[in-house]
Order: sequence, then C-alpha cells, then structure tokens
Amino acid sequence: MTARPTVDALRNEFRAELARVTSARDLQDLRDRYLSRKRGALPALLKSVATAPPAMRPELGRTANELKREIERELASRRVTRDTPNEPAGGVDVTLAGREIRIGHRHPLTVLREEIETIFANLGFEILQGPEVEDDYHNFEALNMPPEHPARDMQDTLYLDGSIPTASDRPATLLRTHTSGIQIRYMETHEPPVRIIAPGLVYRRDNPDVTHSPMFQQVEGLLVGENVTMADLKGTLECFLRLLFDPDTQVMFRPSFFPYTEPSAEVFISCVFCKGSGCSVCKKTGWLEILGSGMVHPSVFDAVGYDSERFTGWAFGVGIDRVAMLKYRVEDNRSFYDNDLRLLEQFSY
Ligand code: DAH
Repeated sequence: MTARPTVDALRNEFRAELARVTSARDLQDLRDRYLSRKRGALPALLKSVATAPPAMRPELGRTANELKREIERELASRRVTRDTPNEPAGGVDVTLAGREIRIGHRHPLTVLREEIETIFANLGFEILQGPEVEDDYHNFEALNMPPEHPARDMQDTLYLDGSIPTASDRPATLLRTHTSGIQIRYMETHEPPVRIIAPGLVYRRDNPDVTHSPMFQQVEGLLVGENVTMADLKGTLECFLRLLFDPDTQVMFRPSFFPYTEPSAEVFISCVFCKGSGCSVCKKTGWLEILGSGMVHPSVFDAVGYDSERFTGWAFGVGIDRVAMLKYRVEDNRSFYDNDLRLLEQFSY
C-alpha cells in the first residue's frame, strides 16, 4: 500500500472544487476546507503521517507536503475579480454574443416641441417659459376673464388651495390651465415690439380618455407691434403649419370666441389622414381643428399698460399633444405618457 491513492484523490477533489469557484466567498471557503489549521484536509493529512504504518510515512509526508504547496499556489493565483454568481464555472465565454445596450433618446413630444421652437426661432421669435403654478390674475383676470366670467368654465381648473375663489380679495393659486398667462407676464416687463413663443405644461381637471389628459403641453405665440394685422396672423400660421405638416397643407380660419382675442379664430388644417376627402378622423369634413388664435383684445393691452390705440397684436395657442397625435398618427394621447417602449422606440432621434 502506498500513500499515492489518498493524496491523488484529494488533489482531484480539490481541482474539481476549484473549477467550481465563482466568487471570492467560494474561494475563501475552499481555502478553509483545505488549509485551515483546525479543519483543513491538508493539515489533517499531514497529522495522519505520524500514525501511518512506518513504511508509508516518508512517501506520505513528501507527497502530502507537495500537495499542500500546490494547493497554496493554486489558491494564490486564482483571482476572482467580480462576484458574479451567474458567471459560468471556468470564467466568461468570450465567444458569446454581447448583450444589447439600450440607448435612450428624446421623447416624441420633446422632439416635436423642439421642432416648433426651431420654426419660430427661424422666424425671429424669442422662446420663453412661465410658471406652472400661476395666480388667478395672470391665468384669467388679465386675460379679460374677471371673476364670475363664464369663459372660465371653458377650462376646468385645478386650484392649489382646494377652493374656487369667489372673493377677489383672496388671490387664488392654481395650476395654469393654458400658457396664455405668459403673454401677460412678458408684456408686463417688456415694451413692444413683441415676438415670443412659450411652450409648457398645462393642467386641467379632466378625466383621461383618448383625447383628454389632466396634463398636456401647449405652445403660446404672441406678436405685438404697430400695424400688425390679421393677415400677418394668417400668413405666419400658414407658414408654421406647412412647415410642421406637409407643404401642401390647406389652412382654414373659422370665427370663434376667446375672451382675450377679438376677433378670434379657430384654425383648421386639411385632414392629414384623407387629404381632405373625408374620413372617420375628420368626421367626413376634410378638416381638423388644430389651434386657437385671434387679435389681442384691447382689454389685455390695458391690463399690461400697452397703448391699445397705437399697438395691435395677435396670439395663438396650440396643443403639442394634439399635433403629435395627428402628425405621428397616434390614436390615444395617453400613449405619450404611458412610456410604452414599443411606441417610444419609433422615435430614435
Ligand atoms: N388658451 C387657449 C386654450 O388653452 C388657446 C388660445 C386661443 C391661445 C386663442 C391664444 C389665443 O393665445 O389667442 O385653449
């Protein structure tokens, strides 16, 4: 009988276990089991030399010591660089295909907002922002909607102090229902001529459905100067809408009402789906309503201290979400806020 079988068996066992090591913790466990003075297999083997039959002792002692040094060497050279429990025994298979890295990109509504900003910046408009938490004065009153004005009901307002104001001595704070208040804020601090657009989020007490959302985005436009006419409004909006949609888009103005403009106009474009021949989206009319606009009401100029005899101006407000639905042919506006990657990934700008 020789010492070989015992030592060789232990060596094979150690090698098999070393191959299964995937973490620093595994490695420490292995070291303990083989080399720990109290519990280790090697110290136990070396101790057994003393009680082995005398003829076996020299070889057992020598081979056991050889194995101990070998194990020490192997444990020292085995580096576990990361704790990756999923990493296969024996390391990483570098021939496997890599995992795809998801690259983010801008949201379609952001892309569209920037497109609108670029069109107006090229026409010489300044781009600015206003507060989302607004006061009653800038959201309503200065826009020719005094308290009790019925037009306030056109938009269901979210009041921040939880109560709808009745007494004018208590200033109400609200989430702006439109971006039109930015017109007031700008004119309060700047003299004509004015050429601005103001994009931003607006909020309304609406239940979400395919066309409604309690939060959406608008772009407000305002131009004030001497001799500004409705023809300027028509020309500018026609240019804007043809750049935004197709160059052959037809634009129609229809009389409407907004308290802050007189006259007011609803603006329609020829249906992007049927090109005007009539379909279910345009309800067989061939036209889609796209924005509200008009000539700035003299009362608005009075509120900001502009001379309404000398200056005239026009304004418009357009919903970015609505434009996006038509331009990208998305049927449910909620898709823009669900963040479903199947939709968003189609906009890899
Ligand atoms: N504020 C309107 C809305 O939220 C949009 C609008 C209409 C803005 C006419 C204007 C305008 O500046 O002149 O529906």
